[in-house]
Amino acid sequence: GERLDFRASKQRLLVVANRLPVSAVRHGEDSWQLEMSVGGLVTALLGVKEFDTRWIGWAGVNVPDEIGQKALAKALDEKLMQRCIPVFLDEEVVHQYYNGYCNNILWPLFHYIGLPQEDRLATTRSFQSQFDAYKKANQLFADVVNEHYEEGDVVWCHDYHLMFLPKCLKERNSKMKVGWFLHTPFPSSEIHRMLPSRLELLRSVLAADLVGFHTYDYARHFVSACTRILGLEGTPEGVEDQGKLTRIAAFPVGIDSERFIKALELPEVQDHMKVLKQRFAGRKVMLGVDRLDMIKGIPQKILAFEKFLEENPNWCNKVVLLQIAVPTRTDVPEYQKLTSQVHEIVGRINGRFGSLTAVPIHHLDRSLDFHELCALYAVTDVALVTSLRDGMNLVSYEYVACQESKKGVLILSEFAGAAQSLGAGAILVNPWNVTEVASSIGYALNMPADEREKRHHHNFKHVISHTAQEWAATFVSELNVTIVEAQLRTRQ
Ligand code: ADP
Ligand code: G6P
Repeated sequence: GERLDFRASKQRLLVVANRLPVSAVRHGEDSWQLEMSVGGLVTALLGVKEFDTRWIGWAGVNVPDEIGQKALAKALDEKLMQRCIPVFLDEEVVHQYYNGYCNNILWPLFHYIGLPQEDRLATTRSFQSQFDAYKKANQLFADVVNEHYEEGDVVWCHDYHLMFLPKCLKERNSKMKVGWFLHTPFPSSEIHRMLPSRLELLRSVLAADLVGFHTYDYARHFVSACTRILGLEGTPEGVEDQGKLTRIAAFPVGIDSERFIKALELPEVQDHMKVLKQRFAGRKVMLGVDRLDMIKGIPQKILAFEKFLEENPNWCNKVVLLQIAVPTRTDVPEYQKLTSQVHEIVGRINGRFGSLTAVPIHHLDRSLDFHELCALYAVTDVALVTSLRDGMNLVSYEYVACQESKKGVLILSEFAGAAQSLGAGAILVNPWNVTEVASSIGYALNMPADEREKRHHHNFKHVISHTAQEWAATFVSELNVTIVEAQLRTRQ
């Protein structure tokens, strides 16, 4: 039938995500410093401009007293174009919900890492209390949504932190338009069924009107979890439960490509580029930009680089790997272990292949500001994305957006959602196969200009035409249509 287009008017959109685009860091009593948050979810949602948006999320800091909470809420409201509304969670909830259930259980499971191996019994025992905290946190998010909801608003819930939210919202107001989008992979139903809380989570997500994923595979996995685990009926449109249809579809995210392309013209970015070019003159530069997360395959990437150096001694003084790895979720033990593991490997390789004047790997444990990041993307010869699993991976998009003049090569894991969109231009690799990644590094470094140009052109076209703006507009428009159709169905 005819598609309804709701894009013309500025619709009010309530975005609900665990993370706000800025996170507060305490600076003395009732004073905070607001720092930009890092991650694909924030990058994508910051690109969404055509709605009248309120963004509801965790403040990122513990503020026990009401006066402090009011002061922080005010500071957040004034900070950005998209108005931010904080949800306050106390330390114990954060520990059990964010560090525990979200990032020690759901995150590794959805990325096929499995449930925590060490301390298996302790995990099993604490499972229920962490799930209770998860539900409690989701209820707190629902409270804040309710407080700010106005009739006609669209409520868009995001990611694995808030799988319980659609149900909480619909229970309070069945007329609310609720969408839910997952920024990670949704795993095979055989993996999902390991979760003790598998039923409740699926049922709650199905309370939404529209459920979205980055790729068709993730959507398909979700539908088969509903059919196999809940015994529901899957239709081409989604999943049906006692006459209620939940639409399920793929909405691949993108970036605000123009923001990156325009930034390259800024004098401060040009200055950074100049400095970097001088610093690494005469050498090829490979780049890795990741949160320091086990899903990013950072140890695998570095070991592949080592193998490349081992097999190609003539390259040793002519290539350098810059790995920018911002620490993330540092209270979760798995992440602490990863940090020391990566440091150890980098130290060993630099000791082995370094000279008095140069080392092959520069590893930074920090985030870069937007201008430095753009400059790095623009001047480097090869980007290395070796995720073991990754919902989409926007770093690969950002690299492509900044490479119009240099036409650098993207080496991309086939386990990143982005492999489905940038696959034809990138060199796809299996990050577990160190030999394959090492030889891809050689191939990329030696690639002739015409092949680089062709590959880049292919990816660039995709990145500038599949933007974050387009992603959000499509999702919200689809959500509106779904609701109109459901109303027509019930009237029939
Ligand atoms: P994820 O969402 O798992 O972190 P993505 O690749 O989709 O992975 O998104 C990461 C986002 O965070 C990108 O926008 C990227 O620019 C940003 N980012 C990641 N690491 C850094 C870093 N070290 N410094 C600055 N920004 C970073
Ligand atoms: C991924 C998740 C996001 C999350 C981000 C950063 O992109 O999908 O939901 O915000 O990582 O992680 P953090 O735990 O710092 O929010």
